[in-house]
Amino acid sequence: MTTAPGLHSAAGSPLLMNENLKFLQAFLKNPLKVGAIAPSSPELAAEMLRDLKPDEENIVYELGVGTGAITRFLCDVIPSRESYLGLELDPELVANINISMPEMNIICGNAAEAYDIHKRSGLGKVRYLICCLPFVSLPKNVSEAVLAEIERFMSEGCETRIFQYAHGYYLPPAVRLREFMRTRYGRSKRSQLILNNLPPAYTLTWSTL
Ligand SMILES: C[S@@+](CC[C@H](N)C(=O)[O-])C[C@H]1O[C@@H](n2cnc3c(N)ncnc32)[C@H](O)[C@@H]1O
Repeated sequence: MTTAPGLHSAAGSPLLMNENLKFLQAFLKNPLKVGAIAPSSPELAAEMLRDLKPDEENIVYELGVGTGAITRFLCDVIPSRESYLGLELDPELVANINISMPEMNIICGNAAEAYDIHKRSGLGKVRYLICCLPFVSLPKNVSEAVLAEIERFMSEGCETRIFQYAHGYYLPPAVRLREFMRTRYGRSKRSQLILNNLPPAYTLTWSTL
């Protein structure tokens, strides 16, 4: 991905400021579930989507769409609407994003049920799991339930990519998640630290393909 789609991405544009405001509102409403004070930057989005080549038989499944900071770049990556499924827990965010990005297939649901939700969608195999959930601040039982879902996709051959903020990298839930993945799928492929994100973050990728 080289350029950001113009409509959504110009830094300082009213659209972006509106998105930041919506994100902040969602954070204030539910800080632990949102887990970040700002949406992902275009630089983090680019790293999350690096080398993705989805199609209708090998779709991208995005968990935790938020205000669509990564989703808007996915518009340029997917060849068709049926190559993507997005899941977001907050119904208000889903309603907003369905207005701003009607071309994307985004539904309201819990990532702890991600596998069955995907099955019900009738879409193709999940080849890429783009997971944007704030594992550090989620309750342990929710994180464990989501990880169990990830395991189900991984057992069918999949690439899972997450991001972790640098400041939380050594907190127990972040370490626990990496340990869970490492013992099953080996060491992650970790990106450079993406400084141009608030806060700076790494992406981590595991693959069973
Ligand atoms: C850190 S934000 C990331 C948003 C966006 N993808 C980005 O990168 O800017 C995490 C998002 O995950 C959502 N979320 C939290 N728990 C969830 C769950 N169990 N199922 C689905 N979405 C969830 C939150 O509502 C929030 O929008």
